[in-house]
Amino acid sequence: MSPDLRAELRTLLPPDKVNLVTKSFDIYGSKQKAVAVVEIPDELRDVEQEIGKALMRVNKNVSSVIAKESARTGDYRIRELRLIAGDPDTEVLHRESGCVFRLDPGTVYFSPRESRERDRLAEAVGDGEETLVMFSGVGPLPIRIGKRRPTVRVTAVELNPAAHNYCVENIHLNRVSDRIQAIEGDVREVCPGLGRTYDRVMMPLPRGAYKFLDVAVPLVKDGGVVHLYHWSSQEDAFTEAEKLIAEAASEYGRSAEFLDRIRVSQYSPGTWKVRVDARLSTIRSA
Ligand SMILES: C[S@@+](CC[C@H](N)C(=O)[O-])C[C@H]1O[C@@H](n2cnc3c(N)ncnc32)[C@H](O)[C@@H]1O
Repeated sequence: MSPDLRAELRTLLPPDKVNLVTKSFDIYGSKQKAVAVVEIPDELRDVEQEIGKALMRVNKNVSSVIAKESARTGDYRIRELRLIAGDPDTEVLHRESGCVFRLDPGTVYFSPRESRERDRLAEAVGDGEETLVMFSGVGPLPIRIGKRRPTVRVTAVELNPAAHNYCVENIHLNRVSDRIQAIEGDVREVCPGLGRTYDRVMMPLPRGAYKFLDVAVPLVKDGGVVHLYHWSSQEDAFTEAEKLIAEAASEYGRSAEFLDRIRVSQYSPGTWKVRVDARLSTIRSA
């Protein structure tokens, strides 16, 4: 987020090009070493190296600048990236709220912008609770939860081997191995065999988590909570998510009481990433 970047470029590029340079970009890492991920419009492709080098001059901790080549795609939700300046080694140690996460933005999903959302979810978990985090990535949610409450138990399931390996390392780095178990694999294959139920099941896969509600619902204890992320361009994304939860709950003889609805971030005009929390209870016949 550096207005200085445009100032730095004013003597190097014509004004019409300077005005196209992004004012915001994501920084992964720490004060020692960071990677910046930027959008480079087609009109700036010929000057992208100057932009990358200027970004490193005004952000002294940034050692690599990479440009987004595509939207996030595929099961792993990662994007193609292109190095435009600096060190080709883009692995960093990202610091957030007293935790550290080793990761490479080129091989795994991680969003520095979702720190506040992780605060909210970590705060929601009570002492002694058991939580299943599906789609756990490099482990930011399980680790934030485990770090905040030593008495919790968290199971983390992730498909991308690179993300899973970082998760295992991050659990170790944050000294929470006694309370978090990381499992590599597909939620659909791994979770039914876990042989237990949970106070909370978190589903942070906005594009398509609802397709796994049939796996999640039976794993929620009676009176436990499911946290579903949903990405929708519907006028009311909450209503759509609530309908999906209610339908899946009813398949298992459960009722859904809706607790919280959060707009997490805006993807594009009209498209929101939302979270809906619902308490699931067994429907008992009178
Ligand atoms: C949007 S990312 C969220 C990652 C992490 N929770 C975070 O907040 O940084 C979704 C993650 O789900 C993983 N994933 C996708 N499909 C999966 C599946 N069927 N089983 C397990 N993990 C899956 C992807 O590899 C990706 O790391």
